[in-house]
Amino acid sequence: MAATILYGKEIAKDIREQLAGEVEELKSKGIVPGLTVVLVGDDPASHSYVRGKARGCEEVGIRSEIILKEASISEEELVAIVEELNENPNVHGILVQLPLPAHISEKAVIGAIRSEKDVDGFHPINVGNMMIGYDSLLPCTAHGVIEMIKRTGMPMEGKHAVVIGRSNIVGKPVSYLLQKENATVTMCHSRTVDLRHYTRQADILIVAAGKAHLIGSEDIKPGAVVIDVGVNRIDSGKLVGDVRFDEAKEVAGYLTPVPGGVGPMTITMLLKNTIEAAKNLSA
Ligand code: GUN
Repeated sequence: MAATILYGKEIAKDIREQLAGEVEELKSKGIVPGLTVVLVGDDPASHSYVRGKARGCEEVGIRSEIILKEASISEEELVAIVEELNENPNVHGILVQLPLPAHISEKAVIGAIRSEKDVDGFHPINVGNMMIGYDSLLPCTAHGVIEMIKRTGMPMEGKHAVVIGRSNIVGKPVSYLLQKENATVTMCHSRTVDLRHYTRQADILIVAAGKAHLIGSEDIKPGAVVIDVGVNRIDSGKLVGDVRFDEAKEVAGYLTPVPGGVGPMTITMLLKNTIEAAKNLSA
């Protein structure tokens, strides 16, 4: 039987309607949630992602601002911008779009963000809190993945989840959040020997390797929930995931498309974090 396709766009629309209601309630108390995105350089993909974030804010009523800076900006100047935003009471969320130019330390810039305003969930304080199960702002893509799995109605408890990719943005946080849901988690990565040995055991397969078409039908356990986090532009200019969609949909129980799968969920979780930050900072 063909897989049920998990359209992130539809799930995101549901959640955004709920978030718009929360924004209305905050506004009635005089609080206007605000997000500032800092974008350095002229990478077209980063500009496109940031436009999507601003559109999402507009949709739910969050005030958003984009600060554009040339790639030649110094680390000190960038940190000074972040520090000013830390002090601005109208800014509840700060997001510095990654990657940064090579001469700027990501660690220094992310570390400079006040953790209560770190709506990416990348600050070491938020990562640490997430890891030990304390409340924190959660990394958006990982959180979006978990919400999508929840929408299948399948409990994660006791399931074998296999995560491909160990990035700080997706692989590592999603593995913690899956454990919090009581799944048994196996981490695979670029040096894993015999990847298929693991993927074929997965009740839940999260593919975040950044390698176009890495996973096909032979790699998937029949009926598995397969979440494709990959976004790869191939030579034809087309955007494709890490999973061979047409093959995988004949074997998987649930499958996310690319585009239109995880992407809209990432932005939605960013909006959710901004509202949460506004609530926490105004409490
Ligand atoms: N670049 C790619 N994905 C992300 C993200 O989720 N947050 C930030 N800040 N930069 C990114």
